[in-house]
Amino acid sequence: MQQVPPMDDAQFQHWQQMLESRIGITLPAERKSFLLTSLSGRMREIGCTRYQDYLELLNNGRHGAVEWEILVDRLTVHETRFYRDRQALQLLEDHCLARLLPEEEGAEPAPVRLDLWSAGCATGEEAFSLAIAVDHFMRRHGLKGYCSVMATDISRASLAHAREGVYHRNRLKNLPLEILREYFTPWDLDHYRLIKRIRERVCFTRLNLINLDAARIGMMDVIFCQNVLIYFRRERREEIVNRFVEHLRPGGLLILGAGEVVHWRHPDLVPVASDEVIAFRRETEDNLAP
Ligand SMILES: C[S@@+](CC[C@H](N)C(=O)[O-])C[C@H]1O[C@@H](n2cnc3c(N)ncnc32)[C@H](O)[C@@H]1O
Repeated sequence: MQQVPPMDDAQFQHWQQMLESRIGITLPAERKSFLLTSLSGRMREIGCTRYQDYLELLNNGRHGAVEWEILVDRLTVHETRFYRDRQALQLLEDHCLARLLPEEEGAEPAPVRLDLWSAGCATGEEAFSLAIAVDHFMRRHGLKGYCSVMATDISRASLAHAREGVYHRNRLKNLPLEILREYFTPWDLDHYRLIKRIRERVCFTRLNLINLDAARIGMMDVIFCQNVLIYFRRERREEIVNRFVEHLRPGGLLILGAGEVVHWRHPDLVPVASDEVIAFRRETEDNLAP
């Protein structure tokens, strides 16, 4: 077993502050060993023996920026699954997609135009699940129109994987067979690829959620953010969800993971009643008090 060099308290604090301010993640003292294992693993790969030298390397111009990308990928959790939160997808159907159907039976439905955002999309499973859910609903109900999913993450390696749209068969076990047959084609013996129609609807972009001010983001009908903010401190989480609201169209839905924000409220949003999912709807002009 390889030796992990010790890190004193002052150095650890420095790393904690740097990670919090650059990518938002908080590393409590219990996670110090995770930090040390991740850092020393990477340092060994590049022949660096002292944390201080590695820190200097990270701050060294373009080379440092590339190294930083690699480190961020090691320090962030990318666990994800297709259809990970089925209740949230059901809520999307009941509270967003069902509204696209004409009120009068037999009436011609209006063309659909939906913009969704998967914030913290990791290797793409969540974003593709959203695109599939919308497509499946539209086809079932004969709706015409267009849906786009903007999928963002801080990890370039995860985004590169996501853009391929190729997944090992073990990662598709969660999917209903009907969905697997309709939306995936065999790629090689062990892998499947999303069909082109779905791949083309999802645009993967690198975005650091703590720099939303600088980002060019349009208005969305649905913002989906799950299992991302749980690694951030409370004020930071609230700042980010407040920014999400600025990108939500009137009537749009914000769907969060269970631990993303606790007791958070926004004057423009009303909670969507659900036992299982944390979701809010942005008030429409009609609903706002005079
Ligand atoms: C556990 S995954 C969640 C994936 C997906 N949302 C889900 O629930 O299955 C968390 C993702 O958040 C991303 N992430 C962490 N900090 C971030 C930040 N500051 N900006 C953007 N993405 C971030 C990580 O790179 C990782 O891919």
